[in-house]
Amino acid sequence: MAEPHESRVYSDLAHLYDAIFGRVFVDHEHEVLGALNLRPEQKILEVGVGTGIALEAYPRYVQVVGIDPSQEMLEQAIGKSRENRWTHIELKRGDAQQLEFPDDSFDWVMNFHVMTVVPDPLRMMSEMVRVLKPGGRLVTVTHFASNNPVLFFLGSLVNPVTKLLGWTTRLRARDVVDGQPITVECLERLSRFSVHTLMVARKGS
Ligand SMILES: C[S@@+](CC[C@H](N)C(=O)[O-])C[C@H]1O[C@@H](n2cnc3c(N)ncnc32)[C@H](O)[C@@H]1O
Repeated sequence: MAEPHESRVYSDLAHLYDAIFGRVFVDHEHEVLGALNLRPEQKILEVGVGTGIALEAYPRYVQVVGIDPSQEMLEQAIGKSRENRWTHIELKRGDAQQLEFPDDSFDWVMNFHVMTVVPDPLRMMSEMVRVLKPGGRLVTVTHFASNNPVLFFLGSLVNPVTKLLGWTTRLRARDVVDGQPITVECLERLSRFSVHTLMVARKGS
């Protein structure tokens, strides 16, 4: 299995994650999940579930599998799940770039702040699309770089620093979307001043 990240930053900081990153991400992840039309019995995969900050927002009538390669991050998520008796949620180790599920398995695949972290985001995208059922939806929240060459260059200047913290500033949406058998239904900033983008895509044309 792939290492969580070359720098192991998330594994090493797992116990501090909720206080540092979680605080910034939790509200918008819950808002995004709350706005989706999740139906009873639907099967959901959350890739890179981390410490499980999004888990509380899944209704108990869906079946959720959360995967992450970092045992340290996963243990935090397992703690939350046990405490809340989330019997509709299964948590296990896994690599976004090599998902251990058959084709067409899930109604929804979620990924929040993971795509810029994995070494091969295009492979992650292909894997997420593969395990989605035809017509199923992929929900991504991440920081995508601008298509504007000047803004892309400016963003690239901080990349050496963000790479140390665990993510790239050089990933554009088109780098992972082009050529995939998906239809992008939504690609917009989470809010006017947010640096994060929400992308919703349906498998199929
Ligand atoms: C910024 S955290 C986001 C965690 C969670 N999704 C959230 O929103 O709080 C990035 C997560 O990606 C995970 N990750 C790193 N490499 C991965 C891979 N190859 N496959 C799946 N997850 C990975 C890290 O272990 C970490 O939990």
